Amino acid sequence: MSVLLVNGSPHPTGCTFTALSAVASQLEKNDLQTQLFQLGTQSIRGCIACNKCAKTGYCIFNDDPVNELVGTLSRAEALVVGSPVYYAGPNASLCALLDRVFYRKSAGYAFKPAAAVVSCRRGGSSASFDRLNKYFTIARMPVVASQYWNSVHGNTADEVRQDKEGLQTMRALGDNMAWLVKCIAAGKAAGIDAPVPETWEPTNFIR
Ligand SMILES: Cc1cc2nc3c(=O)[nH]c(=O)nc-3n(C[C@H](O)[C@H](O)[C@H](O)COP(=O)(O)O)c2cc1C
Repeated sequence: MSVLLVNGSPHPTGCTFTALSAVASQLEKNDLQTQLFQLGTQSIRGCIACNKCAKTGYCIFNDDPVNELVGTLSRAEALVVGSPVYYAGPNASLCALLDRVFYRKSAGYAFKPAAAVVSCRRGGSSASFDRLNKYFTIARMPVVASQYWNSVHGNTADEVRQDKEGLQTMRALGDNMAWLVKCIAAGKAAGIDAPVPETWEPTNFIR
């Protein structure tokens, strides 16, 4: 059983990576495998709302990692998304990536546990955390709790390592996620199937 961790930061060994590493270590202590996707400094174009993915399940653009990630996430048992806080939100390239990974493709991610973790110097962590959780809750992905809202504070990896409570929050998240992944696997083995979704009936406030 494998958990996909996505680092949206341009810094491959920065603050967000340090937070995600603490989650990953705890998942591995609980006998789960982890795989890390580093967004780095790749340019990610925004969704152009062409809706082609509704038919194919894939994005029409193949020049960035979006489609690869759609496949990786479909195969993983759970997801952790990490982001630095930029102006009290997740960083823009990560949002561009997630918009396109999730839009009209999320049926394949339903019932996979998910969590967001964020890193900031000082403020905006809760707003960023809330924004990232929106991807999961519209996709029927159970959001895994920790013991606090999942944030660390620092401008450098070394500062994050001094955030004892932040790192404890990451370890608790790893334990809680491993427990839920195992519970879902045990439930499946015992014949407890995921609910079958109703056909979506979108109403745009105008009927
Ligand atoms: C464009 C930009 C905007 C930022 N905005 C905020 C902010 O709103 N609040 C904050 O506390 N830190 C802000 N920061 C600092 C980063 O969130 C912080 O250094 C983060 O821990 C970096 O994580 P990383 O090393 O994984 O990239 C900002 C940094 C940049 C580059």
